[in-house]
Amino acid sequence: MRKARVLMDRDFAIGHTDPRLFGAFVEHLGRCVYGGIYEPGHPSADAGGFRKDVLGLVKELGPTIVRYPGGNFVSGYNWEDGVGPVDKRPARLDLAWFSTEPNSFGTNEFMDWCKAAGVEPMMAVNLGTRGGDAARNLVEYCNHPAGSYWSDLRRAHGWEKPHDVKFWCLGNEMDGPWQMEYKTATAYGQVAREAAKMMRWVDPTIELAACGSSARNMPSFGHWENTVIDHTFDHAEFISLHTYLNNYKEDTAAFLACPDLMDSFIDEVVAIADAVAAKRRSTKRMMLSFDEWNVWYRTRRKRADRVREGWPVAPPILEEIYTMEDALAFGGACISLLNHADRVKSACLAQLVNVIAPIMTETGGPAWRQTIFFPFAHISRFGRGKVLRAQVESETYDSSYYDPRGAEELSFPVPNVPYLKMSAVADESGGLSLFLLNRDLTQEMEVSLDARSFGRLAVGEALELRHDNLKATNTKDAAERVKPASLKEVTVEGGHVHATLRPASWNVVHLSAN
Ligand code: AHR
Repeated sequence: MRKARVLMDRDFAIGHTDPRLFGAFVEHLGRCVYGGIYEPGHPSADAGGFRKDVLGLVKELGPTIVRYPGGNFVSGYNWEDGVGPVDKRPARLDLAWFSTEPNSFGTNEFMDWCKAAGVEPMMAVNLGTRGGDAARNLVEYCNHPAGSYWSDLRRAHGWEKPHDVKFWCLGNEMDGPWQMEYKTATAYGQVAREAAKMMRWVDPTIELAACGSSARNMPSFGHWENTVIDHTFDHAEFISLHTYLNNYKEDTAAFLACPDLMDSFIDEVVAIADAVAAKRRSTKRMMLSFDEWNVWYRTRRKRADRVREGWPVAPPILEEIYTMEDALAFGGACISLLNHADRVKSACLAQLVNVIAPIMTETGGPAWRQTIFFPFAHISRFGRGKVLRAQVESETYDSSYYDPRGAEELSFPVPNVPYLKMSAVADESGGLSLFLLNRDLTQEMEVSLDARSFGRLAVGEALELRHDNLKATNTKDAAERVKPASLKEVTVEGGHVHATLRPASWNVVHLSAN
């Protein structure tokens, strides 16, 4: 049995979770839109063609903001193709995913879907094949009330009121050669700055995120952030980060360690952003938008998993089937995000439905929860509030994480990985939520946590996600093979919380003020 001790005080805080930390992502990619959130003709579809079974699961999952329409897709997207009478919209070849985009779902449909799902829209603009002009026109179309060409066009299309989109991404992964018209850091920085200026001149209330590196292992990482932040410092509030965790090597210990590299990535981007601020003697602090994160590797490297020949509409690509083990690594990533609540003010689980997603559907059939659904639903439900600076005393292990870049076989050391990875969030009603990942694959862990500063606490809900088989998945026919159960061994005595965590488990303990 391993032992871990946690010290904390309710007044020692990292920061408050911004509601937008619990975001997700919908891209025109595979069956995310068509056959995912939108499927007219499905038995559960509403008048707008939105699948109500999916909407139900989205509400249970609890995303707060949803990024759209890409991803790689956005770098070749003409937003004008997706508005106006549906029968007049053009079908286009999408060079991001080698599919045909019918454009029957576009900006206005997305806004309606967001309302139905109870989420805020986050829009990305095309700074690949297009630029500042198309971007400012889209802001005018979406946010200007009336009396101008683009706002009146929106009204003529049937949306009288502005959509009032507050959060805008200045392109997507502009550092990556796979991106349509990727750029050098300087070229992107200039385009992003000019687009940002014009977009904000149209609507001064918007917030803007510039593209950071598409991964920590990019050769330009660091230099890219430094240059892009330098160009956009006065015009953007956020710099973005993307990370997809992998277990190519079938090394579970390394896989569960790798969320710690997300911690490093965040700390490094914060350091660069603050260095740029320091050079300017500026008190402004650029915030971080972790606008793509997830586990993704099985359907990533081989072209056949990403591309179906013949330019199909909504092919079933990137349909990663998640295991129990993936849910654990994913839970580790959730903890990394929570523990940086002071600077990561926005984050998007990529993606929402079918494409590397917590929710799967069968076209014309049912919808179900993948394993990764649960840690996200838990943090969205219990993770709102003040994240505490917990000091964790836990035995550690050393690891090395394989993170290839194209044909390059790269590995990164991950030293001193605590078996216990955790986050503690104090809520407004005096309660406390604990997210506890036991990364030991064979041993139970006895956790003792000093919560005396909270006064009297009582165990409210205590949940555990684990399975004897780390490769267990949920499928259409076994949709509940992996699901949370109650965590039995939790007690509170004299202000100390004691919990016994089973090997390789994700655990949530919500304590209410008593
Ligand atoms: O989420 C899938 C893809 O991953 C996105 O389109 C892209 O931005 C990233 O490379």
